[in-house]
Amino acid sequence: MLSLLRLPAAILPLLWSIATAQTPIGACNNSPNLCAKTYDNVTHLGAHDSPFLRDNTTSYSTAGNQFYNSTVQLDSGVRLLTAQVHSFSNTSTNATEWHLCHTDCLLLDAGPLSAWLADINSWMNANPNDVVTVLLVNSNDMTAQQLDAEFTASGIKQYAYTPSSTTVAPSAGGWPTLSSLISANQRLMTFVASLDPSSNSVAPYLMDEFTFMYENPFEITDANNFTCTPDRPAAVQGSPQAAVNSNRMFLMNHFLDSAQAFGIDTPDVDNISSTNSPTLGTPGGLGQHVADCAYVYGRSPTFALVDFANVGPAIQSIDRANGVQQPLGRSVISTAVLKETVDSGAGKSRGGDGSSKFAFVVGMLVAVTLASWA
Ligand SMILES: *[C@@H]1O[C@H](CO)[C@@H](O)[C@H](O)[C@H]1NC(C)=O
Ligand SMILES: *[C@@H]1O[C@H](CO)[C@@H](O)[C@H](O)[C@H]1NC(C)=O
Ligand SMILES: *[C@@H]1O[C@H](CO)[C@@H](O)[C@H](O)[C@H]1NC(C)=O
Ligand SMILES: *[C@@H]1O[C@H](CO)[C@@H](O)[C@H](O)[C@H]1NC(C)=O
Ligand SMILES: *[C@@H]1O[C@H](CO)[C@@H](O)[C@H](O)[C@H]1NC(C)=O
Ligand SMILES: *[C@@H]1O[C@H](CO)[C@@H](O)[C@H](O)[C@H]1NC(C)=O
Repeated sequence: MLSLLRLPAAILPLLWSIATAQTPIGACNNSPNLCAKTYDNVTHLGAHDSPFLRDNTTSYSTAGNQFYNSTVQLDSGVRLLTAQVHSFSNTSTNATEWHLCHTDCLLLDAGPLSAWLADINSWMNANPNDVVTVLLVNSNDMTAQQLDAEFTASGIKQYAYTPSSTTVAPSAGGWPTLSSLISANQRLMTFVASLDPSSNSVAPYLMDEFTFMYENPFEITDANNFTCTPDRPAAVQGSPQAAVNSNRMFLMNHFLDSAQAFGIDTPDVDNISSTNSPTLGTPGGLGQHVADCAYVYGRSPTFALVDFANVGPAIQSIDRANGVQQPLGRSVISTAVLKETVDSGAGKSRGGDGSSKFAFVVGMLVAVTLASWA
């Protein structure tokens, strides 16, 4: 408190509002306008690869997709968090653990899935008027049982919403409203890519992504090449009409990669300000892409997934899609592109030295590629 008292008076209210930012009673996901809307009729801002950070905890790994951690993302209005889950063998215990890794655990390991879910659970405990969506890429085919054990261990299972059918998507506008999810305290929507519903009787809250959603292409490396055309699942590929008829929700990928040597892509941080720009007319900008897809489908995307979500800020394009003018209980964070500072001693925790691991993995892939030519 003593150090707070020394701050100029004008800064105090700002700090206070950041410390207590929370959607108030009567509002849902930062706005009273969203309570009566169905889950699928709201546009949710997604942080792509949410736990994979490009900050001092990963020595500013070039594989990192976000500048701020998942908790800060949620504080600033992100409501969809995506991550990849990989099997990790712990050499000291000889046990298989489930970790959040970017492409490979040697490249960027953000720690156990259950620890990350526990962080989200803590945030949800402190934010009772918010609906959060988690989308896990099931890179090593975890079973429903294995995933369920992680959700149980983290405590977050208490909030899990279970759909009335695990195999049939509700029609447009047919999902529960945000206020009904909030009053039932079933505020966590969980999707897995992929988890065959026919082999999941134990944990029906784990929804198979492509039963309920479709996506436009990802791995875009040219800002002029963002489209609204469905790419996955195969059943709706290339056909917006088939996607609409299937009742799936639209997850709009909107992140740009830089093509590196040997077929490796990294998040394009150099162009991120235009990629996440809310300004209509910006080529390859988020605001324009949301508007273009709303035109194609007659409704805004349900999810828009971005890298470096603080930049833009991306939330501005989402507020426009939702008709939200005065968001409540949201932290305002820097929209700056973080530059690596002189930080030679960092990189010991969590992700470790991402850059040198990246070089190492590239080297391995080159070795494998060369070997396969031989
Ligand atoms: C990373 O930077 C933050 C903010 O500048 C600082 O508070 C924190 O101590 C740093 N952490 C590490 C591991 O260097
Ligand atoms: C997230 O980052 C903030 C700001 O750097 C830090 O205070 C907080 O401890 C971090 N939370 C987690 C769960 O890592
Ligand atoms: C391996 O398991 C031990 C014991 O559970 C744990 O303390 C340690 O953090 C694990 N190592 C890694 C790299 O996750
Ligand atoms: C949801 O959107 C559908 C399709 O655009 C519309 O028909 C319906 O009225 C909306 N319902 C709610 C509750 O927002
Ligand atoms: C962009 O799209 C055009 C037209 O479909 C295609 O020819 C080109 O290869 C794409 N560029 C990249 C870098 O993918
Ligand atoms: C990124 O920005 C640079 C410089 O502004 C530009 O030359 C380049 O074409 C952009 N890259 C993409 C993929 O749009």
